Parts: sequence; C-alpha cells; structure tokens
Amino acid sequence: MRSASFTRDRRRSAVLGVGLAVCLSGGAPPAAAQQPEEAAHELPKIWQGVYTDEQAAHGREVVVRHCAWCHEEDLTGGEGPPLIGGTFVRNWGNRYLDRLYRKIRETMPPGEETVVSAEEKLDALAYLLKTNGFPSGTTPLPLNMSALRDIQVVGPKGPQPAPTGALVEVRGCLQQEGGRWRIIHAVDPEVSTIDDPKGDAELAKGLPLGSGTVYLLDVFQAPTALIGHSVMAKGLLIRNPDEMRLNMLAIESIAPSCP
Ligand code: HEC
Repeated sequence: MRSASFTRDRRRSAVLGVGLAVCLSGGAPPAAAQQPEEAAHELPKIWQGVYTDEQAAHGREVVVRHCAWCHEEDLTGGEGPPLIGGTFVRNWGNRYLDRLYRKIRETMPPGEETVVSAEEKLDALAYLLKTNGFPSGTTPLPLNMSALRDIQVVGPKGPQPAPTGALVEVRGCLQQEGGRWRIIHAVDPEVSTIDDPKGDAELAKGLPLGSGTVYLLDVFQAPTALIGHSVMAKGLLIRNPDEMRLNMLAIESIAPSCP
C-alpha cells in the first residue's frame, strides 16, 4: 500500500457547494439510482456483490457507535454530510473504492481517526454500499487497496462521461504552447473531489494515460516547474464541441516524466 499525505484540517464544505450547484444546473444524474437495462451486458463489478450482508451488519454497528452522531444511522446526514443519494453520487460517482476507503480511514471520525480500527472502517464502507443500494454477495470487501481500486462507484450501465460544470480530475502530460496551458495524452475527465489533490496524485502513480487534450483556464500560478511531468489537474469541466477545457483549481505532479 502506498503512503499518502493528508491535510486533515482542509474541509470540503466549499466543494460540497460546488457539487450542489452542478446538480442544480442539470449535472450528472445519480448513476447509482438508475435501473439496470434489459440489455444483456456484464454488470460493473460493484453490481456483482462486493461485500457480504454479515459485513454490512457489522458495519452498521460501527456506524451507530462512531459515525451516526454526525451522519445519522441511515446516513442521511446531520452535522456531517449525507453519505447516501445525490451527495454520495456527486462526490464519489465514477471514483474507486480505494479513495473512499482512504477518506474514511484517514479522516473519520474527525479528530479521532485512530479510535475505529481499519477493519471496522471497512465494514462501515460495506454498510455505506448497502445503504446506497448496491447488492451484497458472497465475499466480503477485502482490506486491500489495490483490490478496492478495482471497484468503481458506477450505475448498472457503467461509467458515464462527466458533464460540463462537474468537478473533475484529468491526468496527462503538462505542456505550454503558444501561451496556453494544456494537458496532452489526457485520460477522460473523471468526477472528483478536491480535498486531497496530493494524496490523489500519489494514488495515480503508474496508471495509464490517454489520448485526449484538455486546455487549462485560470492558471493563476504558472505551474512552470511541472512542464513535461505527468500531472493530475482538478477543476470544473467545460465540454466544448471543439475542445475540452478545465477551470483549474489544483495541479499536482504524478511523476517527473511523461511517455
Ligand atoms: C464529529 C462528526 C463526524 C463523525 C463522528 C464522523 N464524520 Fe464523517 N464527516 C464529517 C464531516 C464534517 C464531513 C465533511 C468534511 C470532510 O469531508 O472531511 C465528513 C465526511 C465524511 C465522508 C465523505 C463524504 C463525502 O461525500 O465527501 C465520509 C465517507 C464519512 N464522513 C464517513 C464517516 C464514517 C464512516 C464515520 C464513522 C467511522 C464518520 N464519517 C464519522 C463529520 C463526522
């Protein structure tokens, strides 16, 4: 498992606000709420049963004891944000369970992160999946980051492209050309969050790049030192017919070179 750096005290309320704005302006439909098509296609992994009922039942006890006073037992939220429904899908849709697990492991409960064991937090994640309507199966969620990275939070139809206005992350190679900043060999933008750009870039080491180009807007502090690096940029997506743009909010190096 890779180590990742964390900034505990950076909270996400501003980002939650952005997420809501995206939703209200007709952003991504809640993928997890969609019904399976009659089409015979293989369901995404998360719909094949990635936790057991027993694990989720134990996870519920963990949540009641350690999480409910902020998130409520049914996860509808209180002092902490809801962990189900639209908020969950906006923040975690298209992302992988390693990040969600790491978020819980490293930052929850705030100020008492070591009170709940890693196993108990994994069980809490199983309860979170169950409460969000993902089916149970015969094998429990494993305490293994690379196995968790294989499980994407998506609807039964699989990943949907991130819409204009979504807070996304893009990986690729940073270039400056004719005064414009751009990312080439870019993968398709994925819905993201912005609480931990460094940690997310760390987890992206070794992942393949893509073939797209994304132009960066609002590059307030020129990331000159990162030219030629493979990078992860985060920001608000603008899908134009002729080019893809990102209102940049953060950029981090993944590796000092590019293919
Ligand atoms: C003292 C209140 C409190 C407790 C207890 C608490 N949380 Fe949180 N939680 C928060 C707050 C506030 C946020 C939003 C800020 C942030 O993301 O760090 C949050 C965010 C989260 C998120 C990310 C939500 C999102 O959509 O981005 C998850 C997942 C989460 N909590 C899970 C848990 C779990 C599991 C437990 C129990 C082990 C727990 N929390 C206990 C206050 C709490």
